[in-house]
Amino acid sequence: MSETLIEAKEITKEYIRGKREVVMALNDVDLKIPKGKLIMVTGPSGSGKSTLLNVLSGLDKPSAGKILYEDENIAEWDEEKLSRFRQGNVGFIFQNWELVRILTALENIESPLYPLKLKGKEIRTRAISLLKQVGLWDKADNYPDELSGGEQQRIGIARALVGKPRIIFADEPTGNLDVDNAASILRLLKSFTKRDTSILVVTHNEELNKYADQTYRLSNGRFV
Ligand SMILES: Nc1ncnc2c1ncn2[C@@H]1O[C@H](COP(=O)(O)OP(=O)(O)OP(=O)(O)O)[C@@H](O)[C@H]1O
Ligand SMILES: [Mg+2]
Repeated sequence: MSETLIEAKEITKEYIRGKREVVMALNDVDLKIPKGKLIMVTGPSGSGKSTLLNVLSGLDKPSAGKILYEDENIAEWDEEKLSRFRQGNVGFIFQNWELVRILTALENIESPLYPLKLKGKEIRTRAISLLKQVGLWDKADNYPDELSGGEQQRIGIARALVGKPRIIFADEPTGNLDVDNAASILRLLKSFTKRDTSILVVTHNEELNKYADQTYRLSNGRFV
């Protein structure tokens, strides 16, 4: 059994800006995401972090290169296959995690499971378990507007995990939080690697490096 979950080989991503300016957002990037590890990619604004995350998760296609997931190159898959792949294997966390304002904390966690063929009771059991794991059991019936930023981000994490993904992609997951809250979010994320979930965090904040199993640094679309 391979210990690598996702392997990116010679990934390049070009954007055309305006009429003829070519932006090399990623330039010949190689990266292995091992099973059950927290990998961090840091770099300044515009260095290609979000592009890397979008390409690795199949939200966007690379211009060249391979993205191997269990020996299959997902860069060649069509949108339908990619969307099934994301639904079964991938969780996302973003900086401004948009929780659904008219759903309670518990319902927000449940919501990714609503389209799946699961029993209501199974959905509730899973969501309650995650709510406890992120330490917000007492906020089950609160709406997002009644929660702090850090609490909302914990609900976002629980929501990303409820589908039992094999990998979580997190883009600036602590961007809006103070230092203490950011540290506790990273520790929480790290705790989920114990059950073999892999996590890729991209951030401009180098101080978060200490929570990662491995760190890479992007500059102008290349690892340095
Ligand atoms: N859709 C697009 N069209 C054209 N250029 C783009 C597009 N998306 C990103 N870029 C360019 O690609 C480069 C990398 O952008 P990216 O969003 O990956 O950076 P980032 O490291 O995530 O930055 P930030 O920290 O500000 O979020 C930048 O030069 C950006 O201007
Ligand atoms: Mg970005």
